[in-house]
Amino acid sequence: MPSSFDVRLRVNGRAVALALPAEALLLDVVRDRLGLKGAKRSCDTQVCGACTVLVDGAAVSACTYLAVEADGREVQTVEGLEEDGRLSALQRAFAERGAVQCGFCAAGMLMTARALAADEPAATRESIVRYLRGSLCRCTGYLKIVEAIQAGLGFGAPAARPESRTGALSVVGRSVTRSDALEKVTGRARYVTDLELPGMAHAALLRSPYPHARIVRIDTGRARAVPGVHAVLTGADLTWCDPYHGPAFRDRPMLAIDVARYEGEPVVAVAAIDAAVAACALELVEVEWEELPAVTTLEAALAPGAPLVHTTEPLAGHFADLSSLRPRPGTNVCHQFAYARGDVEAALAGADVVVEDTFTFPRVQHYAMEPHAALAAWDDATGLTVWASTQNPFSVRVELAKMFGAPLGRIRIVVPLVGGGFGSKTYAKLEPVTAALARAAGRPVRLAISAEEAFRTVRRCDTRAAVRLGFRRDGMLLAVDCHADFDVGAYADIGPRIVQKGTYTAAGPYRVAHVRLASTAVYTNTTPGGAFRGFGVPQLAWAVESLVDEAARQLDRDPVELRRQNLLAHGEEFAPGDTPIDGKFEESLSRAAEAIGWTRAVAAGRGRGVAMMLKASIAPSVSEAIVRLHADASVTVLASTVEMGQGARTVLAQIAAEVLAVPLERVTVLLPDTSVTPYDQTTSSSRSTTMVGRAVQEAAGDVADQLLRIAAKALDTPAASLRIDAGAVVHGERHLDYDALLRAHFGMAGGELIGRGVVAPGPTRAPLGGSTPFWEMAAGAAEVSLDVETGAVTVEDYVSVADVGRRINPLSCETQDEGAVLQGLGHTLCEEMVYDGGQLLNGTLLDYRVPRAADVPSRLECHFVENADGPGPFGAKGAGEGSLVPVSPAVGNALARLTGVRFRELPLTPERVWRALRERQARRTP
Ligand code: FES
Repeated sequence: MPSSFDVRLRVNGRAVALALPAEALLLDVVRDRLGLKGAKRSCDTQVCGACTVLVDGAAVSACTYLAVEADGREVQTVEGLEEDGRLSALQRAFAERGAVQCGFCAAGMLMTARALAADEPAATRESIVRYLRGSLCRCTGYLKIVEAIQAGLGFGAPAARPESRTGALSVVGRSVTRSDALEKVTGRARYVTDLELPGMAHAALLRSPYPHARIVRIDTGRARAVPGVHAVLTGADLTWCDPYHGPAFRDRPMLAIDVARYEGEPVVAVAAIDAAVAACALELVEVEWEELPAVTTLEAALAPGAPLVHTTEPLAGHFADLSSLRPRPGTNVCHQFAYARGDVEAALAGADVVVEDTFTFPRVQHYAMEPHAALAAWDDATGLTVWASTQNPFSVRVELAKMFGAPLGRIRIVVPLVGGGFGSKTYAKLEPVTAALARAAGRPVRLAISAEEAFRTVRRCDTRAAVRLGFRRDGMLLAVDCHADFDVGAYADIGPRIVQKGTYTAAGPYRVAHVRLASTAVYTNTTPGGAFRGFGVPQLAWAVESLVDEAARQLDRDPVELRRQNLLAHGEEFAPGDTPIDGKFEESLSRAAEAIGWTRAVAAGRGRGVAMMLKASIAPSVSEAIVRLHADASVTVLASTVEMGQGARTVLAQIAAEVLAVPLERVTVLLPDTSVTPYDQTTSSSRSTTMVGRAVQEAAGDVADQLLRIAAKALDTPAASLRIDAGAVVHGERHLDYDALLRAHFGMAGGELIGRGVVAPGPTRAPLGGSTPFWEMAAGAAEVSLDVETGAVTVEDYVSVADVGRRINPLSCETQDEGAVLQGLGHTLCEEMVYDGGQLLNGTLLDYRVPRAADVPSRLECHFVENADGPGPFGAKGAGEGSLVPVSPAVGNALARLTGVRFRELPLTPERVWRALRERQARRTP
């Protein structure tokens, strides 16, 4: 068989001739040989559709399609979608209708839609949904994608652009098209895996096949001898740096040292001329293992005498609020948190109704469609630069500086567009080992892991929560007692903070005098647990909100009314020393109940449920921003918010444009680069609009003040008599355009005004080392049906109501919350990482089911409470996480009201539901 084949094809109308090996995949050819980076690699298993291209007009998954099969054919990629140099109708519809968030699925969605247009010119909504069965999106709730396809095919309804009540505001509150939409619908958007540097090597990792094993011997000799291999590293080689990292405890080595603590832990890293050579070299590595007993469940890890995941005390991490962390020596307890007020035991003893139960929440995979990636390069003059798909460039910088003994100023983290995060890309993940490989190889190295490897990188902490609630006969909530165990996996990551933050708000949005909350973070020999949308709150809200409904049943009260009776009011104290409640729970609950038709009779075979949530944002928390007004009156915003799909850059541009009264298109927001853009703690905790937005507002206001002072001097009038409007300083009838004003001020057409904004907390008495900057608040209502023969639950209707203070970009808020609901439906109905004896059984998208377009409820509505009472710019506050949290309890409550069975375990798979129904039937049958 020849080693290569001559392949001739036409790509986007251009003739191409290539000599290709038989095994070359079409995706690699279009991306790496032809430089067409629009099609993306994600699942590698023909499930997600991100790699979809057309071959002779038919949609194919290029990740599994041999390039030689395309010989003599016509291939079309997203780069070929434009018509006469203008966006096609489909591309325009995707951009304008909010069908693009992180954009990692966009090319595949567009090409699939293009194939559908040829197949079924008169496609219906149902046929579009059916056609998307092989196309996943993890950001949107699919609604906007389906709408955009309808519109792109020429039969959609006119674009509905939600607007906020804006009053005098002109840019804020408008559903403007996101600033990165154009690059995302044309395939020009660049993510880390699209970046290349001259001489760049490709990295691959050998992972532990055992959940717990001692490394007796590693022989890398044969791997090192493979031509094209630049570097091979094991944990034993890392004597020249500090190999440990971790934000809470520095307990995670970049490569396993002496012991591997979970199946899939990186053990050996190779950098080679290309990915195939790297993979080939890994095959030649010999590892001798001694298996150790493993603990893979909370029960096993907490049992007396359990095998220990860590036998030495880990090093402290770098966060002040976590400096008190202490593992319990000789156990698998990584951290314990407790918070209490009042006298819970006395209150429960005096309660008329006490409901109690234990609820479990599963291990869940984020499946951000862009798997983690990093590209590292060392330079004698400037130090280390890492291009990373990270949500925390500044935390990664701190970690790398410590590990490589370098000052912060010589570590540079650049973050291009990120293809979804949901918490999975917080804190260092691949960056340390990629940097070490680049140092060893003496050249730039890119490490891009697969979706399968992402399952072995981070996940949501599974939880077991035992909860007691005490109520007075009149419905008053007297006491909340919650004891939870969180499984943080093999390494702590940010698990201890998840435990603290999630547990602190376990009592939910309710007024309750007696509270006792205690949680334990527990090591197990499984993939490390980390941040995931909701940050510990979904796990406990599942338990508490289920029990609130159970209490309503026992008290013979309506669940909505029982909640309403106990809700915290606007301005009321959540806990002594913490921020007063900054929204209106009552309004959210009422809107949700009204929209779901709570008081209407429910149809036969249907059940309705509601749930609520409260979440504290990260504290203490610092953000800085710089705004530059250029000589031509255009504006650059420097801020380090990571753009991972949430639309933050567009929101920051809207804020700057509003404050400076310039057209939105004159504002550019840079992507994070720690050597250029100023400090920002993290892009997580729904904080960017509030914290970075305030910093941008302040920085833009600083520029506006300078303009007024300059104009006041020029006009010899008090600054207070001036205002800015439409790119000019206005004094009576006179308009001094910014560019003319700057020219006069600097004496030439050059020079710029620079404004600075800083948002930093002062000291507070709040329990967790800082008052929450804002409260994230939401309600959810579900109507479900059930197939009693199979146990399959269908969420027919779902209404989400989030209190966001004010929507800066209403369309963005809506698409985010639709995505949040879908992600919530995932862990509610189908998502769970299943282990057997420490082996992950479903660590691919073939086996791990995430929601598809067909899983969207027939009616999914996202509403917003806007009272402009948030602490962010123009009264805004965080959005995007809250709407996920009530999904599980709302669905569980609906199912309980329909069946009379209270479910305590997620996900509510058909099998689990069917078994519960059977058990109930068996109990009833004598
Ligand atoms: Fe679809 Fe992010 S926009 S995966």
